[in-house]
Amino acid sequence: MTVYRLDSPTTSLFVRASIGAPPELLYWGARLNDAVTAEEIERLGTSQGGPGSADIAIPASLALEPGLGLLGPTGFGAHRAGRDWGSRFDVVAVEQNDCRLRITCLDPRTQIGLEYRFRLHAESGVLTIGSTVTNHGTDLLDLNEMATACLPLPARLTDVIGFTGRWTGEFQRERLARFAGGYVRENRKGRSSHDAFPGVILCTPSTSENVGEAFGLTLAWSGNHRIRVDSLSDGRVFASLGALFFPGEIRLAASERYVSPDIIAAFSPDGLAEMSRAFHTHVRSHILTPHMRAKPRPVHYNTWEAVYFDHDLDQLKAIADKAAAIGAERFVLDDGWFGSRRDDHSGLGDWFVSDAVYPEGLKPLIDHVTGLGLEMGIWFEPEMVNPDSDLFRAHPDWVLAIKGVDQIPYRHQYVLDISRPEVSDYLFACIDKILSDHTIGYIKWDMNRDLNHPGDQQGGARSDAQVRALWALLDRLRAKHPNVEFESCASGGGRCELGILAHTDRVWTSDSNDALDRQAIQRGASYFLPLEVLGAHVGPAHCHQTGRALSMGMRSATALMGHMGMELNLLTEPTADLVELKDAIALYKQHRDLLHNGALQRLDTPDYIVAMGVVATDQVEALFSIALVTGHARTLPDRVYFTGLDPARQYRLALVWPDAWQSKSVPSVIDALELNGRGTLINGDALMRAGLQLPLASPESVLLYHLKADRGCCD
Ligand code: DGJ
Repeated sequence: MTVYRLDSPTTSLFVRASIGAPPELLYWGARLNDAVTAEEIERLGTSQGGPGSADIAIPASLALEPGLGLLGPTGFGAHRAGRDWGSRFDVVAVEQNDCRLRITCLDPRTQIGLEYRFRLHAESGVLTIGSTVTNHGTDLLDLNEMATACLPLPARLTDVIGFTGRWTGEFQRERLARFAGGYVRENRKGRSSHDAFPGVILCTPSTSENVGEAFGLTLAWSGNHRIRVDSLSDGRVFASLGALFFPGEIRLAASERYVSPDIIAAFSPDGLAEMSRAFHTHVRSHILTPHMRAKPRPVHYNTWEAVYFDHDLDQLKAIADKAAAIGAERFVLDDGWFGSRRDDHSGLGDWFVSDAVYPEGLKPLIDHVTGLGLEMGIWFEPEMVNPDSDLFRAHPDWVLAIKGVDQIPYRHQYVLDISRPEVSDYLFACIDKILSDHTIGYIKWDMNRDLNHPGDQQGGARSDAQVRALWALLDRLRAKHPNVEFESCASGGGRCELGILAHTDRVWTSDSNDALDRQAIQRGASYFLPLEVLGAHVGPAHCHQTGRALSMGMRSATALMGHMGMELNLLTEPTADLVELKDAIALYKQHRDLLHNGALQRLDTPDYIVAMGVVATDQVEALFSIALVTGHARTLPDRVYFTGLDPARQYRLALVWPDAWQSKSVPSVIDALELNGRGTLINGDALMRAGLQLPLASPESVLLYHLKADRGCCD
């Protein structure tokens, strides 16, 4: 028997991979000391028979394939015309290279190969797992089911946190007590979806943001997925994540392979926020490009909620002037600049500048914008076509559909089968031309409908192929235009996950610019995604999605805790609001390096407070956002207990937002601690353990506290 050990400073992993036996994960969790031997872990993994159980131990392999005879959940299903269904994979080769482990398995009876690739990342403790199925037989292999891996987890993790939501309400957490049988989240929408983010967390009932064990797992995949947590009758628990297929979707000819999307997983012994920090470190070191990491994220101005489809060159120039004056650094021209796209009924697919709206092309607008010192960005929705478009009239057969079944109406648009090379080539040529002919540094890549009938012309399902074609098209464009940044938008956060992020640079977190909604959405997204990739815009005074009126103070402080931007009509907003917005933008610029490189903190607070912060990696500075989303039950709001500070340092604590704000009552903690002025020096340990009394503030307001370590204190 051979057991392989992988260690990071925080995490250990033990995998049994003995030639001639199924591969098994024996341990994943807190770093074990060096004296712990693989033999000890293996012996502790010895099975115990029970009433009614088989006379031998049935190995729980990484695939939980039917051939094991385990009679529980499965993570693999395949057959050749009804035969060869009962694979059992045995290890045939293992390669370990420091923190990478490659395990090759084969079932000689069914002629199917299965490979696992583990990597434990030293800087984050994040574990990535990929797998590949190969058809070594001569006949076609139908792959029905393929979890990237099925991972046994400790039964003490009795809580499951999943993510649900809707359009304008993404990333809502749902915490359940694990129950006998299967917790199953499936997504068949063809994008990662608003309601089923591909991630799950297992933790103990007492795990909170800053205390307790948490195991987070996410699938880096922009399409259909299945996530399961299975609680077996013998007490074992398995988490399985993988892509989800339609019937016949994955058919492998002789020697063909299916490569699964990666599982990206993080373990934390110290609460959910620490788990998120591990994911963020991984995103920063392995998913975002070095170019994106190095460049400060510019303040966006986006035209959508200001003008919608009503493009007018003079008005847009006037808006750009105002945007530049209050500190915008990028101007993104949203939907409506091309073809016959004067509303959402027509024009998608015709990616040519509209002569009717821009008789001299986009150059006059771009020259104006870049002349103001702003970078130009532009909107595309490449995967879609309106039936009322020249593209559809020329190529009605390019759309995904099931022959003989009516298309489901959905924002008056159909989905192109971009897995067809001629379709991808057309889109590449159109986008490449716009980028080559203009000075454009940013593309907002939108995608506004589910794939209800993702069938191709031959009658096969193409959801999986569509995702791979999308990633390839993005990569092709990024290779040709390496300085252009891409945003993934899908009616807001319908495609925000670590898979798309490997091919883009930021996500449009939600179509809701309602700052109250945004507090919950951005907090939910932060479980897996760092703040710098979360597009966050200041919307109009009366939110277009909810009709709610929120102060500029609340709106701008909420957008500041992400990649900040705005999309309100600067020509009609009250002057006082614009002055305040300008101040907020200046504050964002002052702190964006901290916000986008530091360690995220989420504080444990009562539900009426959303408290998040960022502490610099050297702990010399921090910014905390305390949002009072509703009123509090008692006379006074609670104390907040900061996290992540250096207990040995003194910090100068100041209230930096709202500017010069006074509490509604006296005596005031703001006055007593001079929080509006010089601030007060307080020990980090005291700030974390004794906490700070919040001032009496109105519901629907955000307070930003800045902490700066006193120079010379302990350096
Ligand atoms: C949906 C996006 O989420 C919005 O921000 C906007 O770009 C519209 N599509 C444009 O049609």
